[in-house]
Amino acid sequence: MTEPTAKPAKGQKINVRLDAARALTRIIGQHRTIEWVRAERPQWLQSPLHTQLLYGTLRHYLSLGEALHRHLRRPLKDKDLDLYHLMLVGTYQLKYTAIAEYAAISECVNGCKALGKPWARGLVNGVLRTMQRDDNWRLDLAAVAALDHPPWLRSLIAKQYPAEADDLMAANNQRAPMTVRVNRSRVTPEDFRQKLDTAGFEYQQGPWPEALTLDQPQLASMLPGWDQGACSVQDLSAQHAAHLMLSALQTNTSAPLNILDACAAPGGKLFHLREALADKGVAHRLFALDDKEKRLQDLETIGARLGHTTYRYEPEHGLTGQARANEAIGLLCIDGCSPNLPFDPPLDAILLDAPCSGSGTIRRNPDIRLLITEASLLEQQALQLRLLQNLWQHLVAGGTLVYSTCSVFAEENDQVIHSFLGATSDASAQTPAQGYGQTTKYGWQMLPTDPLTDGFYYCLLRKQAVQDGAANP
Ligand SMILES: C[S@@+](CC[C@H](N)C(=O)[O-])C[C@H]1O[C@@H](n2cnc3c(N)ncnc32)[C@H](O)[C@@H]1O
Repeated sequence: MTEPTAKPAKGQKINVRLDAARALTRIIGQHRTIEWVRAERPQWLQSPLHTQLLYGTLRHYLSLGEALHRHLRRPLKDKDLDLYHLMLVGTYQLKYTAIAEYAAISECVNGCKALGKPWARGLVNGVLRTMQRDDNWRLDLAAVAALDHPPWLRSLIAKQYPAEADDLMAANNQRAPMTVRVNRSRVTPEDFRQKLDTAGFEYQQGPWPEALTLDQPQLASMLPGWDQGACSVQDLSAQHAAHLMLSALQTNTSAPLNILDACAAPGGKLFHLREALADKGVAHRLFALDDKEKRLQDLETIGARLGHTTYRYEPEHGLTGQARANEAIGLLCIDGCSPNLPFDPPLDAILLDAPCSGSGTIRRNPDIRLLITEASLLEQQALQLRLLQNLWQHLVAGGTLVYSTCSVFAEENDQVIHSFLGATSDASAQTPAQGYGQTTKYGWQMLPTDPLTDGFYYCLLRKQAVQDGAANP
């Protein structure tokens, strides 16, 4: 399949529907993610309309697919998945957008030639025109969000959240809120709010001075001081990581605390932690690891914008050998399950923001509902447990580990902690009670049914101090 270049040649017209269909074919046909599309085929997401067509069609992929199937005389062949997606993008426009229907249809028809399938023009035109005339399918799709979730996902949500299941699936079909984190190393929250006021942005103040949720999501680059690193975009639920960590740290020592962000890239929680530690005047050395070099490079780029210096941590120099406290963040590209993690002396605190299904962020990443499976939840669970058990060995007695995921499923949350506690005699879980979401057996679950938060899970684990062991054998 030939793909358009990032910039079309002079005079060549971009076919936004075609780009959306191509992106869908990569996601569904080859199990790529939207993140992959962003990184590898940015031309498929280069305008707000591209994004709307791709995200919207993914969000309603299953229900629109049912409607489309009803209007096809016979199913398309597997090799025509791209054509199917072109029609689906057309169907999405007919149902969910105010785009002129003749334009939506004719652009889809034009896409056939670029796909190398000019024979399909009549088919695409005929099916979409029939759907244009038929209002029944549009009425049938009225707001039943469950239809946009695969059956296994529907059942799991209903099983784990019987009271909230419908609301949760409806929330998964909403647009996500946009919360900004003021970079307190660069600007005071008061000054930043003033800049927002001057620029005419409306927002709600979050639970900490640096958290501001905008009434209308914006392009990040439009925010005041963006290029100068005045702020980041970070969901409110994700901002709890740094605050939980701060609340659990033993800050009454004069020696700097050695803290590791164990799955750090692209650095959202890491940089927040840096800003929060600096703001509170907590002496620290911060380290960050991730097993993907490309993601660590992205972290470095983001850090540079925010003014957070990083360096490559060289294990042979030891934890204290390279950075002076409160200065640069030491980066390490290594598997967190490696038996030879180079952290000696042990760390005072660890943040493990574990790789997970992302099921708590489906409204932000509509591809997730179509890509995850029950089996993949269990694969993630095994990795999460391995990471937790391995990192635990590098935590000092009396130290704290914050475990987090952006998943709403117990498989990746309480079940991991349950297995871990069962096999780890010097660990205890403390439930951090906060204003949002619900407490679970071991931790705290936020849900996207709260309009302000994604579905995040947190558990605070404490390693028994030496004297605790002596007092309570
Ligand atoms: C949930 S994301 C982290 C997001 C990050 N904490 C933030 O706030 O921006 C999980 C990260 O874990 C990394 N990862 C996955 N498996 C890993 C492993 N075995 N060892 C280290 N990092 C891993 C992924 O590359 C990914 O960057």
